[in-house]
Amino acid sequence: MARKKIALVGSGNIGGTLAHLIGLKELGDVVMFDIAEGIPQGKGLDIAESTPVEGVNARYSGANDYSAIKDADVVIVTAGVPRKPGMSRDDLIGINTKVMQSVGLGIKENAPNAFVIVITNPLDVMVWVLQQASGLPAEKVVGMAGVLDSARFRHFLAEEFNVSPEDVTAFVLGGHGDTMVPLTRYSTVAGIPLPDLVKMGWTTQEKLDQIVQRTRDGGAEIVGLLKTGSAFYAPAASGVAMAEAYLKDKKRVMPVAALVKAGQFGQKDDIYVGVPVVIGEGGVERLVEIELSAEEQVAFDKSADAVRSLVAVAKGLL
Ligand code: APR
Repeated sequence: MARKKIALVGSGNIGGTLAHLIGLKELGDVVMFDIAEGIPQGKGLDIAESTPVEGVNARYSGANDYSAIKDADVVIVTAGVPRKPGMSRDDLIGINTKVMQSVGLGIKENAPNAFVIVITNPLDVMVWVLQQASGLPAEKVVGMAGVLDSARFRHFLAEEFNVSPEDVTAFVLGGHGDTMVPLTRYSTVAGIPLPDLVKMGWTTQEKLDQIVQRTRDGGAEIVGLLKTGSAFYAPAASGVAMAEAYLKDKKRVMPVAALVKAGQFGQKDDIYVGVPVVIGEGGVERLVEIELSAEEQVAFDKSADAVRSLVAVAKGLL
């Protein structure tokens, strides 16, 4: 059986980390693409030279021409600009909308059967722009945000409880970042919901609220520390987990930015926003449409409306 082909559009910090992780997991051969000449070629060669040491079987190549991504099985998009201290993700919309439009056309012409994972911010609206530009079916175009937001939440909870992060599950909904909606009643330690852990004296509601806020600000915390760019290790790990779920038909239940149709999750029109879905060989195979409490619905609607107003801005730019 031929190896799978994974194309990385954008070979910066996240792109490079994605390429490395994909090789270590032997998910397939990697094509790195970027508009910057030499960067995808150089990073591809550097990682290829690590494969004998790691005992990894994966081919790497770098390119500045979209023909290189031809017939890719998976395309992961990180092209664009990251934020600097003081910027919100939304400040990136001007530049990154245009970038998503060109990337969408490149995918349409060269890899129309791919499963596409967008990581570029502002996430939810960038997925929408790319899906429109590429014309790919909505179930094959998703955004990576919820896996990262829930990973941050799980990490902070594991630290608070002094338990393995493996045994912490988290459930988040909504847009990436500031308007993220964590569902604490569905977030657990080994199946024990967080509200029960408060009752058991493992933590306090106040501490839990602080952890939720730290999770919402998780991206900004890293930007503030790095100063020259934004997070890349955890975003890359999250993107790889989604690619793996698709390539191995794992049917994993993951929070991703997916197309929510009018009527689903109480929405009045179609919108790309973070919801739990099943990812398998068909891409997004199913939305996990849970019932929201009145309070959760209000928070989710607020988050979806924030995405809607950015979609309006993007429409003005296109
Ligand atoms: N086509 C292809 N690549 C592009 C384009 C384009 N039109 N425009 C920019 N790029 C490339 C840049 O040359 C750079 O190598 O995208 C890469 C982005 O890499 P970084 O600047 O290192 O950014 P990174 O940290 O990887 O984040 C990428 O993901 O999480 C989001 O907010 C983040 O939007 C940002 C994106």
